Amino acid sequence: MNYKLIEDKFRELYGSKPMLVRSPGRINLIGEHTDYNNGFVLPAAIDKEMVLAVAKNESETCRLYSLDYDEAVAFNLQDLQPSDKGWPNYILGVVDQLQKGGYQLGGFDCVFGGDIPIGAGLSSSAALECGAAYALSQLFDLNVEKLQLIKYAQKAEHTFAGVQCGIMDQFASVMGKEAHAIRLDCRSLDFSYFPLELGAYQIVLLDTQVKHSLASSEYNTRRQECEQGVAKVKEKHPEVNSLRDVTLEMLDEVKSAISPVIYKRCRYVIEENDRLLKGCDLLEQGNIKAFGQKMYGSHQGLSEQYEVSCPELDFLVGLAKNNSNVVGARMMGGGFGGCTINLVKSDQKEAFIEEAKQAYKQQFGIEMKTYEVKVTDGTGRR
Ligand code: GLA
Repeated sequence: MNYKLIEDKFRELYGSKPMLVRSPGRINLIGEHTDYNNGFVLPAAIDKEMVLAVAKNESETCRLYSLDYDEAVAFNLQDLQPSDKGWPNYILGVVDQLQKGGYQLGGFDCVFGGDIPIGAGLSSSAALECGAAYALSQLFDLNVEKLQLIKYAQKAEHTFAGVQCGIMDQFASVMGKEAHAIRLDCRSLDFSYFPLELGAYQIVLLDTQVKHSLASSEYNTRRQECEQGVAKVKEKHPEVNSLRDVTLEMLDEVKSAISPVIYKRCRYVIEENDRLLKGCDLLEQGNIKAFGQKMYGSHQGLSEQYEVSCPELDFLVGLAKNNSNVVGARMMGGGFGGCTINLVKSDQKEAFIEEAKQAYKQQFGIEMKTYEVKVTDGTGRR
C-alpha cells in the first residue's frame, strides 16, 4: 500500500500531520455462512488493506475524504445519519457505536484509501470499520479492548450498512496474525492461531469481477431461514439456541415440519461445521489434498444447498476441479460474486491462472483478476 499517498493527501486537505492506521481484508479457508449460526470459521488477514490517516480537529465536526472515490463528506457528531453515498456509513456507523457505548469523541479529520478490491468478498467494509474503530480509540485514548472494537465494527455494519453480518470479517481484520489462520468458534468466541503451512501449494484468488445485486438482501434472508429452522428444532429441544447446537438427527426429526428450502439451508450449515473441524485435522496432518476435497465439498453445499453461488463462481470452481494442479477451490465470503479461493501447486500457478483467465473471458466476456495474497497481522498503527 502507498501510505505516503494517503498521508500527503491528508496534509494537502487538512494541513496537519495525521496518525496512520492500517486494517487488513481477509480470506476464509473454509466455514462459510457459519459465523452467524454460532459455528466455526477459518479466516486469515491478508496483505490487502485499508489505510486511514486521522487527526483531531478540536471541533464537533468530522470531515471524511475517500481517496478512491475522490469524494468528501462532513458531519456533526451530535447528528449522525446514514449517508446515501454509501462509503461514509462504515465510519459513521462506528462513530455512532462508540458514542452509544458511552465513549467521548471529538471532531476529527480522516483521509482513507486502500487496495482491497471492493465487492470481491475480501471484506473491504469490515477493514474500514475496524480501522476506523481502532483509529478513533487511539486518537481519543479510549483504550477500547480488541473484542469490543470488533463488536462495534460488526454492529456498524448492521446499523449503518444494513447487512446483518456475522463476526468473522471484523474478527479476522483485527486479530489477524502473520502466516496463521484463525480458527474461531463463533459461539464462545474462543479462537486459536493455526499455522498456515500449505507445503507445495499456495493460495490463489480468482476474482469474477461480478457482484450480483441480490447479495445483501439474500444474505439477510439466509439468516432468517436458519433462524426459522432453529425455532422448529427448539420446540422439541428447548436447549437449542442456534444451528451450532443442532445435529443432523435433530434436524431430521423436524424435516416434515419445515419447508424443503429451510431443511437444506440448515443441513448445509451443520455439514459445513463438520467439514471445517475435519478440515483442520487434515491441515494439522499436512494432508492438503484431503483438505482441498473439503473445500470442494463446501462449494457444492454453498451452490446447491445454501444457494449463494452464481454461474461465474461455479464456472471457476469447475475449472479448478478439472485441473490436477489445483487441490481445492470454493467461493469465498457472502457469495453472488466476488472471489474463489484456490489451493494451487506453486510451480504450476501461472499456467492455471492463464488457463482460467482465458476460459473465463471466453465464457463471460469478462477480464478476470487474480490475487496472490500473503497472510498478515491485524489492524494496527503504521
Ligand atoms: C460475509 C459476512 C460474514 C460471513 C460471510 C459468509 O462476509 O460479513 O459475516 O457471514 O459473509 O461466511
